[in-house]
Amino acid sequence: MLDKFLRYALFLCLFIGFTGIAQAEMTREEYAIKFRRSSYTALGWYYGYLHRMVKGITPYDQALFQRDAERVALLSKLPKDGFIAGTEVGDTKAKPEIWTKPALFKEDNDKLENESAKLAELAKGGDFEVIKAQFSTLQKTCKTCHDDFVKRKSE
Ligand code: HEC
Repeated sequence: MLDKFLRYALFLCLFIGFTGIAQAEMTREEYAIKFRRSSYTALGWYYGYLHRMVKGITPYDQALFQRDAERVALLSKLPKDGFIAGTEVGDTKAKPEIWTKPALFKEDNDKLENESAKLAELAKGGDFEVIKAQFSTLQKTCKTCHDDFVKRKSE
């Protein structure tokens, strides 16, 4: 009985401790920027595997391609949640237009999600040429949004 209680108390201390640390270290806005940048980094990481297979740098492996295309499709849904109010400024390359032109940002983001989902579907099997063409469509969705909404080094 006591053992159970102690375990519960320990769990509670740890839980409160962890959330306390996260809050003490950064503001919610800083956390949101970190979250979206990390999720784009993870997206870019798996996108990189697909890119190398499409370019022939690594051999095409259907199972691996499918796995990573599914990861890209899942990860494509995450970053948008990190664009909360008050995150226009800070450690970010996001342009302020994200908040002044939300409809265009949504359109660019919807394309990313839809084209990644299509790629994951095609990756289940079939013609690699068709898969490559869809990868190229996905690639354009990254470029369009980056041209519209990501600051270049000089900006
Ligand atoms: C809807 C818009 C949009 C789309 C589509 C998009 N990105 Fe981005 N991306 C951004 C924004 C905005 C940032 C800057 C985030 C910040 O600094 O707060 C970014 C940043 C990044 C970063 C840098 C992360 C960091 O901070 O180090 C990588 C890598 C990246 N994107 C990869 C991709 C890839 C790969 C794709 C396509 C599969 C893609 N992005 C599609 C908007 C987009």
